[in-house]
Amino acid sequence: MLQILHVVGARPNFMKMAPVHQALTTTPSVQSRILHTGQHYDRLMSDVFFEDLRLPLPDVSLGVGSGSHAEQTAGIMIGFEKQVLSARPDVVVVYGDVNSTLAAALVSAKLGIPCAHVEAGLRSSDWAMPEEVNRVVTDRLARLLLVTEPSGRRNLEREGAAAGAIVETGNTMIDSLASLLAREGITARRPRPGRGLVLVTLHRPSNVDHAGRFETIISFLGTLAEDHDLVFPVHPRTRNQIESSAVGKRLKGRLELVEPLRYPAFVRRMVEAALIVTDSGGVQEESAYLGVPCLTLRSTTERPITVDAGTNIIESSCAGDLGGTARRLIAGSYPGIGENPVLRAAHWDGRAGERVAEALVRFGRSC
Ligand code: UD1
Repeated sequence: MLQILHVVGARPNFMKMAPVHQALTTTPSVQSRILHTGQHYDRLMSDVFFEDLRLPLPDVSLGVGSGSHAEQTAGIMIGFEKQVLSARPDVVVVYGDVNSTLAAALVSAKLGIPCAHVEAGLRSSDWAMPEEVNRVVTDRLARLLLVTEPSGRRNLEREGAAAGAIVETGNTMIDSLASLLAREGITARRPRPGRGLVLVTLHRPSNVDHAGRFETIISFLGTLAEDHDLVFPVHPRTRNQIESSAVGKRLKGRLELVEPLRYPAFVRRMVEAALIVTDSGGVQEESAYLGVPCLTLRSTTERPITVDAGTNIIESSCAGDLGGTARRLIAGSYPGIGENPVLRAAHWDGRAGERVAEALVRFGRSC
């Protein structure tokens, strides 16, 4: 029996893992188990995703919680090492770029347990982002590199990764999105009539944790709210900042601040939106697949396929005119759900989980 252990910890990990776990549960002679580090622990940031993605409860929960980067990463490493020493999986699978990803990859490498990285090779080249550090180090440690878009292979090859370690699989997060759309019977965009909906998500430390930058963004959102209905599901990190900043307190009445949404509710808002304003990596990808214009409040993206797809504009290419860019994006026209040729060429077709599962089994049996 091939023992495969998935390590997840933060909200976006769950959507990336679900299709892989599902594909492996129907593969003969494979045992697929889930370890949750507890990096995210609020019910709305974690448990509800297991329900909405129809995942079983995690086999192991470390319950590590929040802390500084060192505290969180170290806590996961200590708990994870104990688990793998007793369970001895054949393959550890890590997802994305969060602290849980890095911690599990480090422990696996030191213990000589083969590690596979789903969403390998993405690069923003911005070392100020904790996620970029996590991505680069994880890819150096992982022995199987599963990439979601062509830039992933290019970056890994440039860094000297062995060509045989890289597999282009498509994007498993898009599988989760495609299954949800099929379950809800959503085949086309249904923009909300009237003033038009602008959906906002914001949680990056570079936007939220610096008072001046945060106030600039909140003021921009306040201006957008004059002409549009804004819905802003607020990440816990951002909620703390809104409560403590002067402009946050002043403008909070104009922004419809809501708790983090469950996955189906969030997807329905994306499908209805005239525009998405975000700093999330996953939302840039989901909006591209849905054909919803997206304004990304960052100076770089590690997901250039979303820019090539024509749906995503990065703030650094707005020449300082966020309002004008938002208006142009809203007025643009975009391919229908799942119809973007750039994404199709990268196999964003709802079958990536099967390809990742096949690659994992081949890899596990060869180790
Ligand atoms: C983490 C990831 C980020 C990912 C994001 C998705 C890292 C370095 N960052 O950022 O890449 O895009 O998750 O959401 O791994 N908190 C709660 N409840 C929770 C989770 C967090 O209240 O369930 C609060 C805590 O006070 C914590 C803060 O939010 O200090 C930030 O949480 P943390 O996991 O450190 O980073 P995220 O900003 O969520």
